Amino acid sequence: MSEKLFIFDTTLRDGEQVPGCQLNTVEKIQVARALEALGVDVIEAGFPVSSPGDFNSVIEISKAVTWPTICALTRAVQKDIEVAAEALQFAKRKRIHTGIGTSDSHIKYKFNSNREEIIERAVAAVKHAKKYVEDVEFYAEDAGRTDNEYLARVVEAVIKAGATVVNIPDTTGYCLPDEYGAKIKYLMEHVTGIEKAILSTHCHNDLGMATANTIAGVLNGARQVEVTINGIGERAGNTALEEVAMILKSHKDIKIDTNINTQKIYPISRLVSSLMNMPVQPNKAIVGRNAFAHSSGIHQDGVLKNIQTYEIINPHDVGIDDSSIVLTARSGRAALKHRLSILGVEPSQDKLDKIYEEFLKLADKKKDITDDDVLVLAGADRSKNDRIKMEYLQVTSGMGVRPVASLGLSIAGEKFEAAASGNGPVDAAISALKKIINRHMTLKEFTIQAISKGSDDVGKVHMQVEYNNQIYYGFGANTDIIAASVEAYIDCVNKF
Ligand code: KIV
Ligand code: ZN
Repeated sequence: MSEKLFIFDTTLRDGEQVPGCQLNTVEKIQVARALEALGVDVIEAGFPVSSPGDFNSVIEISKAVTWPTICALTRAVQKDIEVAAEALQFAKRKRIHTGIGTSDSHIKYKFNSNREEIIERAVAAVKHAKKYVEDVEFYAEDAGRTDNEYLARVVEAVIKAGATVVNIPDTTGYCLPDEYGAKIKYLMEHVTGIEKAILSTHCHNDLGMATANTIAGVLNGARQVEVTINGIGERAGNTALEEVAMILKSHKDIKIDTNINTQKIYPISRLVSSLMNMPVQPNKAIVGRNAFAHSSGIHQDGVLKNIQTYEIINPHDVGIDDSSIVLTARSGRAALKHRLSILGVEPSQDKLDKIYEEFLKLADKKKDITDDDVLVLAGADRSKNDRIKMEYLQVTSGMGVRPVASLGLSIAGEKFEAAASGNGPVDAAISALKKIINRHMTLKEFTIQAISKGSDDVGKVHMQVEYNNQIYYGFGANTDIIAASVEAYIDCVNKF
């Protein structure tokens, strides 16, 4: 019999902390429902005291999902815990996740405190959270750099205070897999009362070892893993849910199972990438565009003879479905609705009609409509209510001529026009836009996502613009990449 590993998803908390990845409440509910369908056990829905938006999202996610436990993050601070308890009032199963830094550097520099006082604060936080919920998880922040003897004292104290789960974060992604595995083993062997709680991993990817560390933790006794879709998260990210799920599914010798319906992995990966405007690197394990592409002659030859020569995972097992590019101009609303539902999007009839209208326009320009296109269309009317809209764009460019762009914008209903030249068509179009907007803003980052399926594909542009010492993130998608660039810039400006 296999043992169960609990999957704690923190895409909507640690993942959403990434600059530019913020979602509104409706989008968070969409992701939460997709996580429920995927089979995660716990959804960390936010950090309620941090903002009214986070508070509200925890409330709405609690109402929207049934099976997973909804978890809210707090510091070891009474007020945080009380606000979290209030935000969790509608959750059918609820958990408060409270904690404090335990490494010497956190104790000294963050809290100007000492080890004994930190244990007292940890215990007090757990006891306070216990007044509101039965299920309390404690995190020992920077446990990766906390010495094992002291960490064991902290863990023992919080379990005695009532913690049901104890999280051992490698907050800085510093540990080596052996070291992290040994840490979990040490706690399993030295903490009195360890059988009363579950140890959890929470590994960051700063040195590219998040998944290896997580698996080392599991092999040494951790029975919960904290993960995110596509591995998004602070800095270099967290452990990717899809990697842990597929490692355990592929290695049948490890007798540990999850509740994950792996066929839903690819659709949720696309959904999160699209809603968060966070491209997935092409060579990303499991969900990258090239994860199942065999390009060299030797590999192709082997795969044609027997797929198992170079493929350890069947793409169908992670929900990659060859029929995912069958939408064309002749597809009806039902086909579009079906594809959206596979991708985790359930629009109202009204919204479906709008998406379908845009779909037909795109299908006129492009032969095959991909899942990415459908997700972009589904998210497209997010910006429909914005103040600034592009009315028209005309660009002249080519070899031996200086590119010139004329641009028409409507700002709160009023029309503006400008023309400008530049060292390329995008530069010309953005110079025209800057003439109209006339603010001191600097383009900091500009990424065009590569065309993946053909020259008629939709170009996706991600941008960062600095204005008033703040960075704003924008996204644009269009079959015309110059128009997509202007859309992305306008998206930034609309957020000023
Ligand atoms: O990385 C970390 O230590 C965290 C904690 C707040 C759980 O995200
Ligand atoms: Zn973290």
